[in-house]
Amino acid sequence: MDNNRRPETMERITNKALADAFIEEQIAQVRAQVGNKKVLLALSGGVDSSVVAALLIKAIGKQLVCVHVNHGLMRKNESENVVELFRNQLDANLIYVDATDRFLNLLAGVSDPESKRKIIGKEFINVFADEARKLEGVSFLAQGTIYPDILESIKQAEGKKAVKSHHNVGGLPEDLQFELVEPLKLLFKDEVRVVGEALGLPHEMVYRQPFPGPGLGVRCLGAITRDRLHALREADAILREEFANNGLAGKVWQYFVVVPDVKSVGVKDESRYEGWPAIIRAVNTTDAMSATIEEIPYALLHKITNRITTEVEGINRVLYDLTPKPVGTIEWE
Ligand code: XMP
Repeated sequence: MDNNRRPETMERITNKALADAFIEEQIAQVRAQVGNKKVLLALSGGVDSSVVAALLIKAIGKQLVCVHVNHGLMRKNESENVVELFRNQLDANLIYVDATDRFLNLLAGVSDPESKRKIIGKEFINVFADEARKLEGVSFLAQGTIYPDILESIKQAEGKKAVKSHHNVGGLPEDLQFELVEPLKLLFKDEVRVVGEALGLPHEMVYRQPFPGPGLGVRCLGAITRDRLHALREADAILREEFANNGLAGKVWQYFVVVPDVKSVGVKDESRYEGWPAIIRAVNTTDAMSATIEEIPYALLHKITNRITTEVEGINRVLYDLTPKPVGTIEWE
């Protein structure tokens, strides 16, 4: 049997009882697979890697070594939250790597979106590989692969072209060949979330919006600079806070800020004030292949505009992107 194909008889995991049964089954399988060896996991803090981490902590405790690479393109407080939850609350064996300078130095002056993605993906592997080489006795690599990833690979193997290159930790160098542990590989996203909650992960983490691997790197349009990246991170944090406080966080599939490399003239304290625009994107979709625009109450848009333009250094306008997918993709790059 092809163990990368979901059996037609496999029941959809829709409740805690089914999730608990799945967890027990996977714990037994993982223990049988890895014995007393160590397992390495790149823990981004996204839903899939977090659920894998929680599952493996339960199965093999400190035999799991999590590596969190902060590429400097995370959202505000994101890396701190990963460390707090996994190291402090779940007592995970977690290595935190602040690789901000490595990434931003490589990205300096690079404006082509696909080149940026490739640099970020490749450097991510380099940083992760550097950490892996420092460790001894690791034979396994855990990944948060889920069933849509498997289906996407099958499609690509059949010759269909990907629209954007998404990255994960596949493609490690020759000297680092591990056996894979992929406990979620037959699950759909909604099932991963049910399993995550059954494992006791916080609701906000399990239901958090998707965040691309290259992070804010594809939202700080064109060549990334530290000052514009900082402005983007602060503006995005305000948008997320306001959505959470106004009941939109659970209703809108993906919402974020984009900051292009364009300045316009504004006025502040009676003086000329040149700044970047913050572009708000808030979309709903079921599969990310097409997306509609969420209707945001005008009063809330005014409040967000006011907060961003007064609280964020360097931003002097706020725009709201009304373009559905197609014709716009969800991300700008
Ligand atoms: P687009 O922009 O193609 O995005 O409409 C569809 C979904 O994919 C996410 N996305 C990415 N995710 N690496 C990722 O892991 C990437 O390079 C990447 N580019 C886009 C995007 O956030 C949206 O959810």
